[in-house]
Amino acid sequence: MTAPLTIAIDGPAASGKGTIARRVAEKYALRHLDTGLLYRAVAVLCAAEGIPLADAAATGARANRLDPGDLERPGLRSAAAGRGASVVAAHPPVRAALLDWQRDFAMLAPGAVLDGRDIGTVVLPEARAKLFVTAEPDVRAARRWRELSKDRDIAYRTVLQDIEDRDARDAARSDAPMRQAGDAALLDTTQMSIEAAVTEAIRLIEGQLAA
Ligand code: CDP
Repeated sequence: MTAPLTIAIDGPAASGKGTIARRVAEKYALRHLDTGLLYRAVAVLCAAEGIPLADAAATGARANRLDPGDLERPGLRSAAAGRGASVVAAHPPVRAALLDWQRDFAMLAPGAVLDGRDIGTVVLPEARAKLFVTAEPDVRAARRWRELSKDRDIAYRTVLQDIEDRDARDAARSDAPMRQAGDAALLDTTQMSIEAAVTEAIRLIEGQLAA
């Protein structure tokens, strides 16, 4: 039996990693998991059930009872859910609860593409290919603002501030901080269209798979 093909794609908010991960999964006929959705779901469920997001033990216990259907909840993509996600994501019991889920998903044949913050460093350190996708904060904020402002009135400044706060929290936490794995290829999409970024991502991955 051949080992599952696993690909790790990490990076900060609105760097393009989600779209790239989806397209890479299509190209290699793999399953795809947006791991940010797990943290978003924990935050939204805790808020709905009155569990304080600052309570590491209680949010961890809720994360242990996460159900696949919870990932379909409406509202997970909102800015508030993203903010809440980065608060609960700093708690070691939450991260521990979600680790096996992510690994089990990746190890099922034929393998998977996972995108997040700590996939190449913690979740799948043995991934066959790894990318760290980034872009300048103002470019990422403009992309996210275009998405969010379709549904509601939101100021660009608010989106930029939100992204900068979240980046700082994600990079500073002590458990699984966001960082480029030593063996990950860096892809800066600041000047790239999404098509160009996907093409470059696949070129980098092909190089890693062939090595
Ligand atoms: O889509 P966007 O990049 O804005 O956010 P996301 O990938 O859905 O992640 C939301 C939050 O979940 C991040 O800000 C992180 O705090 C957390 N997260 C994490 O800690 N580890 C992951 N593997 C994925 C997300």
